[in-house]
Amino acid sequence: MAFAGFECARCSSTFGPDEATYRCPRCSGNLDVRVDFARADRAKLEADRDGSLWRYARLLPVDVPSADQGPLRSVGWTPLYDAPRIARRLGVRKIWIKDEGRMPTGSLKDRASAVVVQRARAIGAPRIITASTGNAGVALAAMARCADLEAIVLVPETAPPAKLAQLAVFGARVVLVKGSYDDAFGLSEEASRELGWYCRNTGQNPFTVEGKKTVAFEIAEQLGFRAPDRVFVSVGDGNILMGVYKGFRELHALGWIDRIPKIMGVQAEGSSPIARAWERGQVSGDWTIEEVVTTTMADSIAAGRPADGERALRAVRDTGGAFVIVSDAEILAAIPALGDGIAVFAEPAAAAAYAGLVKARPGGLVGDPIRR
Ligand SMILES: Cc1ncc(COP(=O)(O)O)c(C=O)c1O
Ligand SMILES: [Zn+2]
Repeated sequence: MAFAGFECARCSSTFGPDEATYRCPRCSGNLDVRVDFARADRAKLEADRDGSLWRYARLLPVDVPSADQGPLRSVGWTPLYDAPRIARRLGVRKIWIKDEGRMPTGSLKDRASAVVVQRARAIGAPRIITASTGNAGVALAAMARCADLEAIVLVPETAPPAKLAQLAVFGARVVLVKGSYDDAFGLSEEASRELGWYCRNTGQNPFTVEGKKTVAFEIAEQLGFRAPDRVFVSVGDGNILMGVYKGFRELHALGWIDRIPKIMGVQAEGSSPIARAWERGQVSGDWTIEEVVTTTMADSIAAGRPADGERALRAVRDTGGAFVIVSDAEILAAIPALGDGIAVFAEPAAAAAYAGLVKARPGGLVGDPIRR
């Protein structure tokens, strides 16, 4: 276990492992988990045949679950497809698609929920609550089930029926909120505070990023410890984007990759508070994120009051990336394009990343030669 405490992403205060739980006790900024690299060992990693994210245990702040814990123990190590047909179509040298639909419950959120569940066990929390647009809740329900913990999930009542069915099957206590994801977020924070339940909320619990960063570890390792030029990430709260960035940053700090990719955030037009702040910030230097009421059909990235917007903006700025805004029509067109291009079936939120690539290409944002 490599848990060395926390550092605030806003005010840089540091805290010991037991001195903080969610946000910064001083300024309420998002906390980064500090990782102790002392046990990192690339030769051991490359010799390891473990086909799950737990192969990165030496870079994770939680213990590995036991072998009899089903999907919790096997989560991660999804395929990274070389997609030459798509690359040709877009006139880009190389494109890889990371298929997170191949996770136990069908989304990248399993990574975050697995690590948070392990954290809950470490601190002896019997119950975990989360707000979710759907995927994070389903992932928490499944991972908590594997560990015999109780999951309470607050989702907007408009969440897709397939996701509600998954929640029911995994035995979560489901609360349908008459309102948006942002409303569910506020309610779950309140319930966590009043009832003392451990809260997984995206952007609030520092351990979600620790799970999500493993997708960057995998991309780098699957490419033979090379980093791509750019990584396109669909953005709701901005927490996946932060995870991707932290993963590459840690590998770079270890000297296992020679550069950090430019991180490209993609938001849906009807839920684009971070991308709008990015556009305004470049002109005026004011990066304030203004809350919006969401209208996109890409339900999983509908977050009007993003919980991790500040860190996402900084990650994109620090890597020389950009934000791209795509319309629902462009997102819808991306779904069959991915199906036809590489036979991956993506939900709208996931397809948004591809729509962002399509949109960024002619604008000159993509197309640097790949350094070898
Ligand atoms: C498929 C998919 N893509 C992207 C996202 C966005 O992640 P974040 O809210 O961390 O930015 C989500 C979040 O629910 C998702 O389910
Ligand atoms: Zn702080």
